[in-house]
Amino acid sequence: LTAESYPQVKRLDFGQITPQTVDFFKSVVGESAVVTDQDDLLFYNEDQMRKYRGQSSLCVKPKTTQQVSEIVKYCHEHKLALVPQGGNTGLVGGSVPVFDEIVLSLSGMNKIRSFDHTSGILKADAGLILENADNFLAENGYIFPLDLGAKGSCHIGGNVAANAGGLRLLRYGSLHGSVLGLEVVLPDGTIYDSMNALRKDNTGYDLKQLFIGSEGTLGVITGVSILCPARPKAVNIAFLGLESYEAVQNTFKRARSELCEVLSAFEFMDRQSQWQAKRFLKTSHPLAQDDPDVDVPEYPFYVLIETSGSCKEHDDAKLETFLESIMEDGTVADGVVSQDESQLKTLWTWREGISEASNMDGGVYKYDVSLPLPVMYDLIEVLRARLDEHGLRSISDASKPVVDVVGYGHIGDGNVHVNVIVREYNKTVEKCLEPYVYQWISDHHGSISAEHGLGFQKKNYIGYSKSEVEIALMKDIKSKFDPQGIMNPYKYL
Ligand code: FAD
Ligand code: MLT
Ligand code: ZN
Repeated sequence: LTAESYPQVKRLDFGQITPQTVDFFKSVVGESAVVTDQDDLLFYNEDQMRKYRGQSSLCVKPKTTQQVSEIVKYCHEHKLALVPQGGNTGLVGGSVPVFDEIVLSLSGMNKIRSFDHTSGILKADAGLILENADNFLAENGYIFPLDLGAKGSCHIGGNVAANAGGLRLLRYGSLHGSVLGLEVVLPDGTIYDSMNALRKDNTGYDLKQLFIGSEGTLGVITGVSILCPARPKAVNIAFLGLESYEAVQNTFKRARSELCEVLSAFEFMDRQSQWQAKRFLKTSHPLAQDDPDVDVPEYPFYVLIETSGSCKEHDDAKLETFLESIMEDGTVADGVVSQDESQLKTLWTWREGISEASNMDGGVYKYDVSLPLPVMYDLIEVLRARLDEHGLRSISDASKPVVDVVGYGHIGDGNVHVNVIVREYNKTVEKCLEPYVYQWISDHHGSISAEHGLGFQKKNYIGYSKSEVEIALMKDIKSKFDPQGIMNPYKYL
């Protein structure tokens, strides 16, 4: 891919990188933290779906907030465009350049700054990898209030910038609630320091909220202060097979009332997503293990229910009573419960692995939507029918661009992921899907992004979820913070 891949976007009137720029950056961060080699730059230029690729000739990896400030101030003075980058696991093309924007990678800023053992408040650099943060917290009896499949490479600053939702939002809520403070380098290089440790603070506008979910458009997040809950001592997983989407909804309703305070995740997968995961994982499906002849996941729908609490006997008894009742009355057709830590992890892979599995055939068009529960699965069926009408989908016929449409997600949060798996990225498929899919979501009172954000993919479609008044206010905020528009241009708005 080159800039010609984006014929509809024109490079804006930003400055050009010069040898003096490179020299200045080296004088600030040291030679080894400036990347200019084209092969080495590929990682920073291309997103993890291999769908978006920019052509930056410069990536800089500062180690301190002061260094970030000096770099950004220089960019401000020379009107150079920048892309803040965390682990580059984002799914909307927001973390990579579109043209020659400088990549400012936070990967060199990965230290824990402090941890309060009484309150559970963690303060850390933005480039700390989520899994490292959680491992540190585990040693101290706490848990990071966010978990997601990319935990091994995404950064906590990237999570905040994306306002990631993840697998346990149902239990721990959104980052808008758990982030207590931030440190941000603003687009002119000013350091905004609100690394607070206060749960309650009603002195004026809550400015940090603006940066949560701002996707690198308002500044570079350099530090995060976050409230972490006590780590649950007992965790159980039930992986269930169901015959209808109605049964999925009933099971969710029942789980909320009967598992109540111990319910920590309620995730959903359709058969097609499990089939794709099976092709990727190449192992027996959890509900087909006793029957080697059942090669394809047997049920049209699956749910993964997690309970987390402080007393194993109590949680076991609660889950057992719940499962007995939903199996007896036929709401759930089949199921398996984790017996140990390793089985628990294996069961999660059938849910978490869908993301990577969806990318194995060549490419994936992703729609990450909030919708009212009753119509949520209709979207997947409508898209399958539409692709069939246009003769674009076949699992077995390699001449068709689309392999299949899979549905899964955080149904407990009203969020479904629709992945259209393709053999290669294809404009005919894209035109068949967009803007049709966004109009459908808008017509059904949903949001075109539940958690992945707008990035480059949805920058032209925000109007399907936000009113003109809202968009005008957002543009005002953007121009107040970043009048030159140097922070992550061509994205978001
Ligand atoms: P990046 O991808 O590097 O960046 C994401 C955005 O934030 C970009 O716009 C970037 O410019 C900006 N940004 C990054 N760091 C900073 C910073 N320090 N300051 C300012 N801006 C910054 N998302 C969910 O919500 N829920 C999920 O369950 C989930 N699961 C995932 C599973 C997989 C396997 C993958 C690959 C992705 C998943 N994602 C999920 C998407 C993604 O949002 C998260 O992986 C993560 O939050 C992105 O963090 P990152 O550090 O990789 O950020
Ligand atoms: C997930 O829930 O698995 C993530 O949001 C990632 C994805 O959809 O690819
Ligand atoms: Zn998700």
